Amino acid sequence: MSTDHIVTELQDRVLTIRLNRPDKKNAISGAMYKAMGEAFSAANHNPEVRAILFTGTPDCFSSGNDLADFLNTPENAGGNVIAQFMQAMVDATKPIVAAVAGPAIGIGTTALLHCDLVYAGEKTRFQMPFVNIGICPEFASSLIAPAIMGHARAAELILLGEMFSAAKAREYGLVNEVLPDAEVQAHARVQALKLAAQPPNAMRTAKALLKRWTREQVKEVIGVEVNHFVPMLKQPEALEALTAFMQKRKPDFSKFN
Ligand code: COA
Repeated sequence: MSTDHIVTELQDRVLTIRLNRPDKKNAISGAMYKAMGEAFSAANHNPEVRAILFTGTPDCFSSGNDLADFLNTPENAGGNVIAQFMQAMVDATKPIVAAVAGPAIGIGTTALLHCDLVYAGEKTRFQMPFVNIGICPEFASSLIAPAIMGHARAAELILLGEMFSAAKAREYGLVNEVLPDAEVQAHARVQALKLAAQPPNAMRTAKALLKRWTREQVKEVIGVEVNHFVPMLKQPEALEALTAFMQKRKPDFSKFN
């Protein structure tokens, strides 16, 4: 399983991990999860890496999990490559800076909950449309979103599942700063370079301490969510939503109770 859809580059002690599948809006396939998981894991053991810049293409972060994969191979949603990717982000010892623009949907939003600094272009559109497609929150978003923004705001974003703006993401504590779209990548890189210039042991220790109180709980919640998520992908509500997406029509949930 290999892919050109994830590009990694190490420069000036900053490892860039870039989603690069623009024709599918950087939808994430199994091969892409595998490549990203390996890149995040390897960074822990590479002394040349002092900070990670996680980004997409200039006008798109990610449209989330590949919906064709959800429809055709739902069992893989609970499989190793996604679990390893999630674990690698949760266990990352080096600081992660995200630079996002355009769509940041599904895991394109929830992965940001595992970054340390998040910079968004002003036209970024975030969305956690799990309920909309007949499934449930993942990547510990059911834990971390209410923890950072409060239940009412997390419920708004997760239960309504509507797109929300970069300004709202900042107000709700999901992003650090909103920038003109053309500036977000460069600004995030400057911030990553600042982190990379900090004393590395102090940086790792500070990050570990910040994450210490939640890391085990986050892993437990990821498992609990997967136990709901994977069977739900095979249920009629998800089948209707995913089929409707492929057929470029609106889903019809009126017959379900
Ligand atoms: N999985 C698989 N393919 C996807 C995809 C996804 N998550 N998101 C987009 N694509 C594909 C489209 O099917 C289309 O392919 P085609 O050119 O072969 O028809 C291509 O990417 C471009 O997408 P399109 O919908 O035409 O672009 P847009 O600019 O109108 O809309 C999005 C972009 C991201 C808003 C829209 O594609 C979308 O809502 N995607 C699904 C998001 C989602 O529900 N993700 C899962 C969350 S759990």
